[in-house]
Amino acid sequence: MATGRNAEKRGGGTAHGRNRLLRLAHGHGMALSAACGLSVAAALCGLVPFWGVYEILQATTDGDGPSDPHAVLGWAAAVAAALIGRHLCAALSTGLAHRVGFDILHAVRAALIAKTQRLPLGFFLDRPVGRLSHVFQEQVEILELFFSHQLPDMVAALMAPLLCLTLMALIDWRLAVAALGILPLAWAGNAWMMRGHGPRIGAYFGLIRTINAEAVQFIQGMELVRSFTVRGGAGGGLGGRLVDAIEAFRRFALEWQTRWLPGWSLYAVGAGTAPLFVAPLGLWLHGRGELEAPAFLAALLLSGLLGPPLQKVTIYGELYQRVRKAEEAISAILDAPEPPVAVSGSEPVREGRAFAVAFDAVSFDHGGKPALREVSFTAPAGGITALVGPSGAGKSTAAHLVGRFWDVGEGAIRIGGADIRTIPPERLKAMVSFVFQDSTLFNGSVLDNLRMGRPDADRETVAAAARAARCHDLIAALPEGYDTPVGEGGARFSGGERQRIAIARAILKDAPILILDEPTAFADAENEALIQEALSGLMAGRTAIVIAHRLDSVRHADRIVVMEDGRVAAAGRHDDLMAACPLYRDLTDRQAEVLRWRLPGTQSDVRSGFEQEA
Ligand SMILES: Nc1ncnc2c1ncn2[C@@H]1O[C@H](COP(=O)(O)OP(=O)(O)OP(=O)(O)O)[C@@H](O)[C@H]1O
Ligand SMILES: [Mg+2]
Repeated sequence: MATGRNAEKRGGGTAHGRNRLLRLAHGHGMALSAACGLSVAAALCGLVPFWGVYEILQATTDGDGPSDPHAVLGWAAAVAAALIGRHLCAALSTGLAHRVGFDILHAVRAALIAKTQRLPLGFFLDRPVGRLSHVFQEQVEILELFFSHQLPDMVAALMAPLLCLTLMALIDWRLAVAALGILPLAWAGNAWMMRGHGPRIGAYFGLIRTINAEAVQFIQGMELVRSFTVRGGAGGGLGGRLVDAIEAFRRFALEWQTRWLPGWSLYAVGAGTAPLFVAPLGLWLHGRGELEAPAFLAALLLSGLLGPPLQKVTIYGELYQRVRKAEEAISAILDAPEPPVAVSGSEPVREGRAFAVAFDAVSFDHGGKPALREVSFTAPAGGITALVGPSGAGKSTAAHLVGRFWDVGEGAIRIGGADIRTIPPERLKAMVSFVFQDSTLFNGSVLDNLRMGRPDADRETVAAAARAARCHDLIAALPEGYDTPVGEGGARFSGGERQRIAIARAILKDAPILILDEPTAFADAENEALIQEALSGLMAGRTAIVIAHRLDSVRHADRIVVMEDGRVAAAGRHDDLMAACPLYRDLTDRQAEVLRWRLPGTQSDVRSGFEQEA
């Protein structure tokens, strides 16, 4: 079955993703090359003093005095210029590379934001928030770090030993060859260190992502954590899992370190021992009168300069692997398949206030697990359709599919006769409003939150919507009224208050189709009554699909669809279902029992607003 998820697994090709990231850098090719060039120039300037001292020594130890005072002065000036030039080049290189790094950081984040707006919402339901925020933050920053610091440094670290060896060869090629004696040891150390490195980098990032995901859940679930914490314990399951994740990371990091440390030590020793190879040969050549003392001294000093850049090269090699992993994670998002929009064979959606929403033999799997099987029903235009059924029956899944959170596996969902896959995403977004059981508000003022529904709405229109949603009085009583910040996630408000603000937002959006997934689930009796009133204002004249846990609240719906195990068990009006559907009767009886169990005084006999209206 070609569901969106299967396609997703096929997508995310990293080769393509790397090309994309290289393309992002490509626009900055000139600046990056200049930064690398300047970095190499800085490395070269670092070698000039050694060469200068060599030349000066040669000039001054030839015979009794300086044979050519001008040459000595010239070299002295060159050394001074190189000392200044080195820092100047390094500063310019850093400046340029940082510009590029931050430009790329910006471009990648912008691309991620743009992409996430086009991705099906199911993409986010399927992934822990912490995992995605890790990509948006840390992994994008790894790229910035790479372009700003590592790339120019790495090029210089690779070039510096070559320059060093070239100068040594100019002095005496045999000494340069002797210096290469470090290679076997360095190579062996490096091979030892890098054994199994690639998979470990993957595991390393995996553990960090787990910590992020657990930390976000831990903080979001703090209420739960507090109420289930055993005294002295780790703070319930969530806290326990976070502690476990941190502990697993510590164990992994320590174990990894003990694995690479011996190889690294061997490499570091190997890379730094060039003078040990150069000195004996130099002494021998000097003894035979084939090598002047200044030349020997200069070559010895130069061979000592080989170690540090070589040590840097392995560190950068390791960091580069991290960059590759970061690229892969970013590409997995940038390359995730977007819901396709078919342009041909579609009936255009007719303009109008209300549309019928039809499920036509819809099947859908959640990651291979069947959630809906051949579901067919029609939510009549302008009417209320209720989805009821036991937990896990597939009600929420069906509701989500109308908004293309995921695409159906088989069958089709039609709005006003048009397959939703043929409706441009922006248009579909404008046509359907969702109100879920726990609405979140984003950081900003109440007004900003409400205007999300319609950015150009004036204050009067916003207030009218808030009145219809029974939250105007509440907002007007706030210290700064509609301009009061809502606090993170809407923390300033109760669940029921947040819900009414979300309903006002939906009223402003004025979409012809409404999907309500247990919108009163978390409300107390008083709030439930207010939310029901708000909803009745919202639903008037629109096509509404309502998922309700309280069957009495949807008793008067135009159509009730009873779902069980991903299938439609029956559909009809309340009375017909009571007569013909044992499952519905059973659900109703059980609910009546639950209601009788309510504590005296808390019973809310809410005859829902939309029930009266229907
Ligand atoms: N994001 C998801 N990933 C994997 N499986 C899921 C996901 N969402 C739902 N499911 C599974 O799909 C099936 C249908 O779930 P769904 O949430 O649609 O049921 P529901 O009727 O809304 O239940 P409830 O009344 O408890 O809200 C269940 O077996 C559930 O475990
Ligand atoms: Mg549900």
